[in-house]
Amino acid sequence: MNDKELVAQHAARKIEDGMIVGLGTGSTANCFIEALAQRHHQEGLKVQTVSSSVVSAIKARELGLPLLAVEQLKGLDVYVDGADEVAPDMTLLKGRGFDLVREKLLAGASREFWVLINPGKRVGRIGERFPIPVEVMPFAWQLVKESLAAIGGKAELRQTENKDGLVVTSHGSLVLDTAFAEAFDSHTLDTVLNGIPGVVEHGIFSHLTSAVFCARDGRVEEQSA
Ligand code: A5P
Repeated sequence: MNDKELVAQHAARKIEDGMIVGLGTGSTANCFIEALAQRHHQEGLKVQTVSSSVVSAIKARELGLPLLAVEQLKGLDVYVDGADEVAPDMTLLKGRGFDLVREKLLAGASREFWVLINPGKRVGRIGERFPIPVEVMPFAWQLVKESLAAIGGKAELRQTENKDGLVVTSHGSLVLDTAFAEAFDSHTLDTVLNGIPGVVEHGIFSHLTSAVFCARDGRVEEQSA
């Protein structure tokens, strides 16, 4: 069993009958969806799920997990997802995938948010390894790029892997990957980005994480808020 499967199974074992469970997006979240589906079928675990992306919804449906529409939700018990960077205070950077809006919506609406990682995701500060993904309305990208430049951000529109087109999110937005030359306070930047007109969402997840589960050397370490 690899680290992603290990940490995913650890999280799936904590899910209880009757819970509404939010499904994240990415390779680790995929392992969690599989582990949860296994418990649902083999042990008769009664859960309802809601997905943070089209791709996770397809996977959950294929594996036979009961799936709710986001529109039906008034809240959920736990949201489980991976992350791209995890700071010591459990602030996250997410969004190397393209589904930030629903990910942050579900993380914020959930009683608990569990983040599944390996030690390679830990950083000293947010932005250490990756630029900050800033999702923008397509017509607003140039003006938002100027606003980001004014606060020290160098933003590039995210391109497809072959660089023959622009990445479009599940909700039709473009992504400005934004690097900052100077170290910044992630909570301050979170607030500043939230206030820029034309920004739909961004990848800094502040004050949302309840617990980080980290697979290391065949064991899972837990860090709680
Ligand atoms: C999706 O938009 C991302 O935030 C992912 O949750 C993040 O990239 C982690 O993905 P992996 O589990 O594939 O590393």
